Amino acid sequence: MDMKNLLVVYHSKTGRNARLIDAVCEGARDPEITNLDVRCLTAKQAGPDDLLWANAVILGTPENFGFMSGALKDFFDRTFYEVEGKMNPLPCAIVIGAGNDGSGALRSIRRIIGGYPLMEVQQEIIVRGEPQEDDLTRCRELGMTIAAGLEAGMW
Ligand SMILES: Cc1cc2nc3c(=O)[nH]c(=O)nc-3n(C[C@H](O)[C@H](O)[C@H](O)COP(=O)(O)O)c2cc1C
Repeated sequence: MDMKNLLVVYHSKTGRNARLIDAVCEGARDPEITNLDVRCLTAKQAGPDDLLWANAVILGTPENFGFMSGALKDFFDRTFYEVEGKMNPLPCAIVIGAGNDGSGALRSIRRIIGGYPLMEVQQEIIVRGEPQEDDLTRCRELGMTIAAGLEAGMW
């Protein structure tokens, strides 16, 4: 079976989104799922080569000033033209840990990702305030679902 690659790109200032994304990656690295490489990078570390490597992408960010974090926006700014025309449509999922409902961050990401093109294949996860255990469970399940779908060739 072909090896598949999952790229996780996130920003976290005070650690909440990092905890959510740790859970996503834990789910994606479930020992039952083989033939999958998971690359988990901060938005500052990630670049165009990571997108060209990926078969699916999970994005994580706080909401800052009603928008995605500047770091995630910078990742998009740094990669868009570099990958334009070189990527097949990739499955994608979004995780947002915000102070309120996260809708501004979600809207801002959705305005951009279609151009890559990244296609959302799972319901977004939005966590308000401190992540609770059920939030981490949802994140683990999201990571596992994307990983299992990739392995099964769903997309
Ligand atoms: C500069 C700044 C602006 C923020 N603006 C918003 C906002 O517009 N809406 C919101 O819901 N939360 C806002 N927050 C709160 C963060 O989204 C929230 O605390 C989040 O859980 C932090 O995630 P992190 O711990 O991964 O950095 C803001 C936080 C900072 C530091």
